[in-house]
Amino acid sequence: RESEQQRYTDFPRKNDLWELERRNLIIYEDGKLGSGAFGAVYKGKLIGKANGSKDARSTLGVNLMRVENCEVAVKMLPEYADELSKSEFLREIALMKTLGYHERLVNMLACITESEPYCLVVEYCSDGDLLHFLRERCKYMLKLDEQQIDYSSPECEAEFDREMIMTVKQLLMFAVQISYGLEYLSQKGFVHRDVAARNVLVHQKQYAKIGDFGLCRFIYAESANYKSKGGRLPIKWMSPEAIRHYEFTAKSDVWSFGILMFEIITLGGTPYPGIQPDDILTYLESGCRMQQPDNCPDDYYSVMKSCWTTSLDERPDFSFIRQRLAQQLERIT
Ligand code: ADE
Repeated sequence: RESEQQRYTDFPRKNDLWELERRNLIIYEDGKLGSGAFGAVYKGKLIGKANGSKDARSTLGVNLMRVENCEVAVKMLPEYADELSKSEFLREIALMKTLGYHERLVNMLACITESEPYCLVVEYCSDGDLLHFLRERCKYMLKLDEQQIDYSSPECEAEFDREMIMTVKQLLMFAVQISYGLEYLSQKGFVHRDVAARNVLVHQKQYAKIGDFGLCRFIYAESANYKSKGGRLPIKWMSPEAIRHYEFTAKSDVWSFGILMFEIITLGGTPYPGIQPDDILTYLESGCRMQQPDNCPDDYYSVMKSCWTTSLDERPDFSFIRQRLAQQLERIT
């Protein structure tokens, strides 16, 4: 843990290749994209190339072609934020610099930490978070059902927005994409600790990217764990060992991914409906698991349920999960 602490203490750094000059960033303050634990996320635009960060990014393999004059999302900490929030935010920025580039992550592009307000500049995802994205489509499809419009029939002549119809194939595609991203993270030695549909962003209606690395930690190896001190954590997404002992590993991310698979296949359903978060641990330790949702394919449910194996050794890893889901997708295609 000491060396981890050290990684995050040399802030703010002068001559940091990720550092952006404030005049090279436009923030649309009326374009609020969301608000997190601290600060808010705004839509923005990079002017020219991110000054000087070229070397840093090419080292990490970021595709520079698309970084100039592009739309971005800016997470900004208000100047009046307390010292703890500020250091947590700087830690998140430091961690993101070490993640490396991956298509299935909401990648960092630049930051401003030489003066306040601190900013973290990341890739912009045009369709917001996956939870809202799915719920919107769920509502739309239910409305068509109410009007007795059979949108699944190719002969259906009623007018409706085909893009709003989610097929099992599209849902499986989201799950496969996210599993690629999480496989990458776990292989690099990171635990995300907040794997959930609200933290996945959607771009151009079909690409899922893992975002919000506020709780993400480097744990050196896939089998190592991060011992948290508790705090506000999403109980219904957590594994029993994470709830009971605050033990976070790549395998606890796997458990959360199973819950995320449930959210996907139910188009934004809430896990364990009718059960209070305080009762979840007892529920799980008595051996209960969520049932197969309506319209959920058997092989999809089988992967989802395997994520909820109590034993860490028997719980599959992300490579295995990614392979199984990719095979299922191949069979549909
Ligand atoms: N909301 C939070 N982060 C976002 C991003 N990167 N793109 C779009 N909306 C967001």
